[in-house]
Order: sequence, then structure tokens, then C-alpha cells
Amino acid sequence: VNSPALRVPRARGELTRRLLLELNLLRTDLAIWSGQDYLLLPLRSGTALPAGLGEVVEAEFAERQVTVHRSYHDLLAWTPEEKSELPRSFDVVGDIVLVRIPAGLEPKRFEIGEALLRFVPRARLVGVDRGVSGPERRRRVERIAGSGSWATRHRENEIELEVDVEKAYFSPRLAREHARVSSAVAPGESVFDLCCGVGPFSVAIALGGHASLVTAVDMNPEAIQLLQLTVDRYRLRDRVRCVNASLEDFVTGQTPASRVIFNLPREGIKYLGLVATLVAPGGQLHYYEIVPREQIVQRGDVLESRLPDRHSWQLVERHVVHPYSPGTDLVAFLFERLRGGAHHA
Ligand SMILES: C[S@@+](CC[C@H](N)C(=O)[O-])C[C@H]1O[C@@H](n2cnc3c(N)ncnc32)[C@H](O)[C@@H]1O
Repeated sequence: VNSPALRVPRARGELTRRLLLELNLLRTDLAIWSGQDYLLLPLRSGTALPAGLGEVVEAEFAERQVTVHRSYHDLLAWTPEEKSELPRSFDVVGDIVLVRIPAGLEPKRFEIGEALLRFVPRARLVGVDRGVSGPERRRRVERIAGSGSWATRHRENEIELEVDVEKAYFSPRLAREHARVSSAVAPGESVFDLCCGVGPFSVAIALGGHASLVTAVDMNPEAIQLLQLTVDRYRLRDRVRCVNASLEDFVTGQTPASRVIFNLPREGIKYLGLVATLVAPGGQLHYYEIVPREQIVQRGDVLESRLPDRHSWQLVERHVVHPYSPGTDLVAFLFERLRGGAHHA
């Protein structure tokens, strides 16, 4: 392809190239011609050049091959059979990429890490996600590419949360649920966010501006420290109270609130009766559980029967937050505590 071009000595080549790019004068669809002593930088036609940059000549250029990678799989020179084992999805938390690796690909995990590091825009660190465990639901991770710590700032629904993927639970898959609950809060409500982790429900609610006070409780001191950092950055100290305590210790003596969020999906059932005492009459309880898909409907009735004074509660909503495993889902149940006590159908 013929194009006008700027002829510059090699020594000034890079500086000039950047200047032309900034001024939108460089043609990026053509490959720069590079000789021993000078470069030819293809120019957009009909544009005025700053004086003194060099001589303008006419030259022949090759078109640039632009490769678009639609998946990180494209960055691996593997056979199609090998690629068929690769995970399709991965999570991005701030500038960290987390991926689960099938056992058969463990020896090749560092190659996968490098491919993800190149593929995901602004990625700094890639880790194998080895799942969460223990009462504090901490994630075990192994670095496979990139550098730096597991602490990052994650943007969710326009909110920037302080996160450390190793020290405290966080999942980017709950973003929609955080927004949904936050939008349900009415003016003047008081809210308990139990098992708050790094506090995405609490911060979204406080920034939403309706609640008079949000009390966020978690037994993991590092989760509470991270939440406190986010709260301080958004100057929410008078609207979010961060409490490092176990549920068992916290509940006694609290004044019931109009809304309680209780997100401990594997073991929550153990504390459901206790937690329900924190809901004021007319208030609502957001309860989460991992449920086998075929049991979602009956499970609502079972849970209702576990609530103290069961006739004063009503299941008002139920939805799948996201699939959890091939046969189970993370399900959100919303119960309302009726005003005026028992209600017999
Ligand atoms: C699923 S994570 C919470 C996620 C968080 N609500 C969110 O939306 O990101 C569960 C949290 O419960 C906390 N936890 C577990 N058992 C607890 C207990 N008995 N008392 C207080 N916190 C507890 C863990 O430390 C963990 O941070």
C-alpha cells in the first residue's frame, strides 16, 4: 500500500512515533518500515505536520496483521485436544485473575497463568483458585503468573471495595445480589449485615443513602479491617458500624432491625432461629443457602418451619443467585416478619 511517510533517523524514531500517535497523525493500519539508519512512519493523508520533524516521502508499506484474541485459549500453542480441557471461565477480582485448574492440567498451570495475564486487560497477578475452606471461608490460592500481593481494590456496581483474596472471603459473582438487596432498603431502615465479609452489602446500602445505620458483623478480623478501610475511604463511619464478633456473641442484647442480611450459605441453618430474633416486626430477613436444584421449592417451607413462632413469618420471595455446582444453586430466600404477631392462614 502506498502512503505518505515521515523519514526520521532511527535515534529519534521512538520519540517521533509517540508524538505522531498522540497527534493522531500516524497510520496504525500499516507496518512501520525500519531500515538500518532511518525509519519510515506512515502518515494519515491531508494532515498538517509540526515543522522540523523530518522529510515527508511517499513509500510502499505492508498492512499490519491485527490479531484479535477472543479467548485466552488463542494465546496457547496447544493441540485442540489439550485445549478442550481448558477452563472456559475465570474470575477477575480487581487486578487479580483466579482460575480453577482441572487435575490433568496441573503440570501446565504456569502456561495457563501467563496466557491469562496477557489476555485479561490490566491483570497484575494470576492465581489458581483452590476453593474456600474453614469457618472464615478463606480462599486458598497459588500464584502462577504476575507479581505482587493478593490485596486489591475491586470495582463492583461503581463501588470500590478493599479486598484480599487470601485473607477474607469475597466473590465477584454476588455483585447483582448486592445491588438487589441495597435497592430494597427503604428510607430510615436499620440493617444488620451478618457474616458481612469485606462488606459489599453494607457499603452498597450505606452509599445508597436510605438506611439510617448498617451494622456489619464478621468473625474474621481481617475481613472487618478491609471493610473499615473501604468505610473510611467513602467517609461512611457514622453510617456503617463494623463489628468483629461471632454471631453467637453478637446477637444477645441487640435491638431488632428492620432488615437482616444473613449470608452464610453452608451453615446458616444452624443459626437461623437465633438470627430471626434480630428482625423487628414488619422487617425482612435475607437468608442464603446452597440448595439441590430439585428441592428449591420445598426448602422454603422447611426453612419457614425452622423460624421461631413460625406463623408470624411469610416467605415473600425466592430466587437463584447463581448456579453453585452442577446439581445445586445458591438461593436467596426473603422472609417477612408479620406485624401484630401470629397470623393463621
Ligand atoms: C459467604 S462469606 C460472606 C460474604 C459476604 N456477605 C459477601 O456478600 O461478600 C461468610 C462469612 O461469614 C463469616 N462467618 C462464618 N461463621 C461466622 C460466625 N459464626 N459468626 C460471624 N461470622 C461468621 C466468615 O468469616 C465469612 O466472612
